[in-house]
Amino acid sequence: MFIEVDSSSLELNPFTAIGSDNFLITAGNDDNWNTMTAAWGFLGVMWRKPVFGIVVRDSRYTYEFLEKHSQFTCSFFPPDFQEALQYCGTHSGRDTDKAKVTGLTPVVVHDNYVSFNQANMVYCCTKASKTIIDPADFIDPSIDTHYPKKDYHRLYLGYIEHILVQEE
Ligand SMILES: Cc1cc2nc3c(=O)[nH]c(=O)nc-3n(C[C@H](O)[C@H](O)[C@H](O)COP(=O)(O)O)c2cc1C
Repeated sequence: MFIEVDSSSLELNPFTAIGSDNFLITAGNDDNWNTMTAAWGFLGVMWRKPVFGIVVRDSRYTYEFLEKHSQFTCSFFPPDFQEALQYCGTHSGRDTDKAKVTGLTPVVVHDNYVSFNQANMVYCCTKASKTIIDPADFIDPSIDTHYPKKDYHRLYLGYIEHILVQEE
């Protein structure tokens, strides 16, 4: 069962949590949602509010859900879910049922946010802004090597409305 915690009480290393352990970005509603694995992102403060920044290429099915819905979640998992995260990061929801294959069970929290019962930390976010990553803005030209297909990321900053953790 999830309980809500305040951002001031977090003891999280964003570099390992995001960059090494990875997380799931989920958008949609109870009936129709999609999720994908992410290894890039940001936790910080913007416009005087705690924000989570995610970067999603426009080729992802999840991108369509992020465009349609005003909320998204970023869900973190215990180490034994690495295989599930790997699956969600290498298959598209366009042609597979990620929940069925991985065993992750979707749950709606705070009315509008879709996450999974197995998550140990969930950031419930409302979209605040979207920026198209434009290669014309790259100061370091080598960044473009990340985009052989020219499917540049969309950077969404989301206000962190709720942070949920599993009750001990
Ligand atoms: C470890 C890992 C990290 C990833 N990080 C990102 C990311 O930050 N942004 C992104 O657009 N895709 C990322 N991907 C790729 C997507 O998760 C992948 O393309 C996924 O299949 C998209 O699913 P969808 O089409 O159902 O949205 C990552 C994949 C893996 C395996």
